[in-house]
Amino acid sequence: MGMQHVWKALMGFVESHATGIAATAAAGVGLVTLRIWLAGGVCHSRVRLEGKTVLITGANTGIGKETAVDLAQRGARVLIACRDLSRAKKAAADIRQRSGNGNVVVKLVDLASLDSVRQLAKDIQENEERLDILINNAGIMMCPKWKTEDGFEMQFGVNHLGHFLLTNCLLDLLKKSAPSRIVNVSSLAHEKGQIHFDDINLDNDYGPLKSYRQSKLANVLFSRELAARLKGTGVTVYSLHPGVVRTELARHQLTPSALWKRILIVPIYLLMKTPWQGAQTTIYCAVEESIADVSGLYYSDCAPKEPAPQAKDDQAARRLWDLSTSMLGL
Ligand SMILES: NC(=O)c1ccc[n+]([C@@H]2O[C@H](COP(=O)([O-])OP(=O)(O)OC[C@H]3O[C@@H](n4cnc5c(N)ncnc54)[C@H](OP(=O)(O)O)[C@@H]3O)[C@@H](O)[C@H]2O)c1
Repeated sequence: MGMQHVWKALMGFVESHATGIAATAAAGVGLVTLRIWLAGGVCHSRVRLEGKTVLITGANTGIGKETAVDLAQRGARVLIACRDLSRAKKAAADIRQRSGNGNVVVKLVDLASLDSVRQLAKDIQENEERLDILINNAGIMMCPKWKTEDGFEMQFGVNHLGHFLLTNCLLDLLKKSAPSRIVNVSSLAHEKGQIHFDDINLDNDYGPLKSYRQSKLANVLFSRELAARLKGTGVTVYSLHPGVVRTELARHQLTPSALWKRILIVPIYLLMKTPWQGAQTTIYCAVEESIADVSGLYYSDCAPKEPAPQAKDDQAARRLWDLSTSMLGL
């Protein structure tokens, strides 16, 4: 008798709110579909990495940390190069525990200091027998107008110049370990980027987004030029967009005072990739067998993607290379 009453009441509710219920269900299905679509590609390669050594910059959090867990699970010796030792040690313990691989080592590097980058490279050259995969992942986004220790604009200095120097210092070891790979984590942001050759440090007109876009375009151009220079060496180069990923990257936009921004961002957060999902294209570029002989391309969602026209400009790529070597005194 009681159940019948509840059932009748329920049906009455459904009949009188049919449109609302249908709309809510449709929105729910739409959201779930959108979320699955946004999750993007997954790296299905089952390649094992026993006996291989991987170096990942900025792996104490976000995409880099998830990449480290995956590559450690595959059996690699994983070196995580980070600027904050205490955060890095905590992350390394977590990576070891999650991967079941104890061979995870912390290295110190501040990419905003050429001296620190050179020290890391020297340490690797002297103490590692091989380097099979270098992942230039660390990044800083849309910070205020800051300078690196050597006086370069911060985002160009960390995202491009620091990695450019590190990579060049490690090339001999990578060649010795060939077939080996270099993976540069860029961004879709490169598409609106421009290399401001006449004002590379943006001294005259700094904009946080303008600078980020320039640095991420530099990542794609660097990959392209490096691939050309490494032809025939067995060292291949990849650049990629990881997707829009829920990490700490937006830390310079989300100041503690901007509470309204934090509230507004909640629904956007729910639609973003998780760090695990965001790491998939990096992992794909690092291990996927079918792209072992492909070099210099740009990837997104575990597939090649056409980068913006200015990212395929070989003359600009060479000009950026020359400018970078002269800025670094190479
Ligand atoms: N998240 C996205 O939606 C997205 C989209 C497109 C591209 N990306 C790219 O993905 C890469 C990883 O970013 P993420 O999203 O994982 O961000 P994240 O969570 O902020 O991680 C960035 C990492 O870079 C490190 N780092 C920053 N400055 C450094 C420096 N001077 N020296 C050494 N390490 C430094 C950070 O170290 P600390 O923790 O010590 O600061 C951290 O480990 C970046 O290159 C970013 O441009 C991300």
